[in-house]
Amino acid sequence: MAKKPFRVGMIGYGFMGRAHSNAYRKVGNFFDLEHEVVLQAVCARSEANAKAFADKWGYASVETDWRKLVERKDIDAIDICVPNNLHKEISIACAKAGKAVLCEKPLAMNVAEGEEMCEAIEKAGVPNMVWYNYRRVPAVTFIKQLIEEGRFGRIFHYRANFLQDWTISEDLPQGGTALWRLDAAAAGSGVTGDLLAHCIDTALWLNGSIADVNAMTETFIKERKHTLTGKVEKVGIDDACAFLCHFQNGSLGLFESTRYARGHKALYTLEINGERASAKWDLHDLHRLQWFDYKDEGKLRGWRSIHVSDHSGEQPYTDKWWVPGLQIGYEHSFVHQVADFLAGYAKGESVGPTFRDALETQRVCDAVLASAASKQWQKV
Ligand SMILES: NC(=O)c1ccc[n+]([C@@H]2O[C@H](COP(=O)([O-])OP(=O)(O)OC[C@H]3O[C@@H](n4cnc5c(N)ncnc54)[C@H](O)[C@@H]3O)[C@@H](O)[C@H]2O)c1
Repeated sequence: MAKKPFRVGMIGYGFMGRAHSNAYRKVGNFFDLEHEVVLQAVCARSEANAKAFADKWGYASVETDWRKLVERKDIDAIDICVPNNLHKEISIACAKAGKAVLCEKPLAMNVAEGEEMCEAIEKAGVPNMVWYNYRRVPAVTFIKQLIEEGRFGRIFHYRANFLQDWTISEDLPQGGTALWRLDAAAAGSGVTGDLLAHCIDTALWLNGSIADVNAMTETFIKERKHTLTGKVEKVGIDDACAFLCHFQNGSLGLFESTRYARGHKALYTLEINGERASAKWDLHDLHRLQWFDYKDEGKLRGWRSIHVSDHSGEQPYTDKWWVPGLQIGYEHSFVHQVADFLAGYAKGESVGPTFRDALETQRVCDAVLASAASKQWQKV
């Protein structure tokens, strides 16, 4: 049977533009879907760059103004892969134009923006999703299954880190194309919205709501030259952030993120300790789940390393790929997310994380920053 087209217009062609384009190109080869992705248009401010990207990745056309792209009648969905300060305006325009929206994370610059976005999206009733892709690394999705099967019992602790080291140099400027993450006006916040937001999304999904937080942040390098103005300006983002929290289920959370952990490039780790079992996961070894089960026979009890690549259908996503024992990588999490989105889209449903789910993460991020500023516990 002929597949229905799912015509994508993508805005931005940087890191995520490539990750998503790769996912769109692969998804139909590995998943059985009602829709076939059509790479209809890519939008960038520079026509030459947009054309070069379109040629490389197979987009049929280019636009240089995202407003024109959003209004085009031959597009079903807009994929927002631009810096955070553009997410709100574009999403709301998409909602008004009746387009499905796939928006990069964090949802917004702050909760107020996120609320406006959710309202517009939900009023329009358009399918929507936010790219918190780590939920769909098979070993992480597998933890969700194990929690739902009750294998942990009561959960006591949730711990997560996201460590990098790329902003240690004082000479690194802020702002502009490559360094918008250091500019509060484009990013909203530093590691909190960029990295901890991922940890928070996974945590809310696996372990439920967070009730309150107690945080500290630090900006180690207080002034940097701004690429756009050429002047040395105050740095408004958090370079590092750590927080404690209470989850609604009574467990305690401990989160840390920094761009000043020399030697670490993108080390996302999480650990959950329950009454009957514990699990650990590490982005640098992303196909493995470290698992401890207290019901194992005493003399053989210990941590085991599960290579999540089974083909029985009992481990998530892995039967769609190569053969058992051959792992997949980072980019596959995006393929899984598109596959799930399209499965929901075929039924007229949104799959998580929706804008509403991502607003909950935004609430935690805002509470973390407020707590760091006030040096007090902050309710979410
Ligand atoms: N899910 C993840 O793991 C993940 C990873 C990285 C980034 N992100 C998110 O993705 C978004 C983009 O980040 P990135 O790393 O791809 O950034 P990037 O700097 O690599 O790319 C940003 C793109 O946006 C384009 N752009 C900027 N302003 C524009 C405008 N007005 N119109 C059209 N295009 C414009 C730039 O030209 C560039 O192509 C951010 O919201 C970021 O937080 C998510």
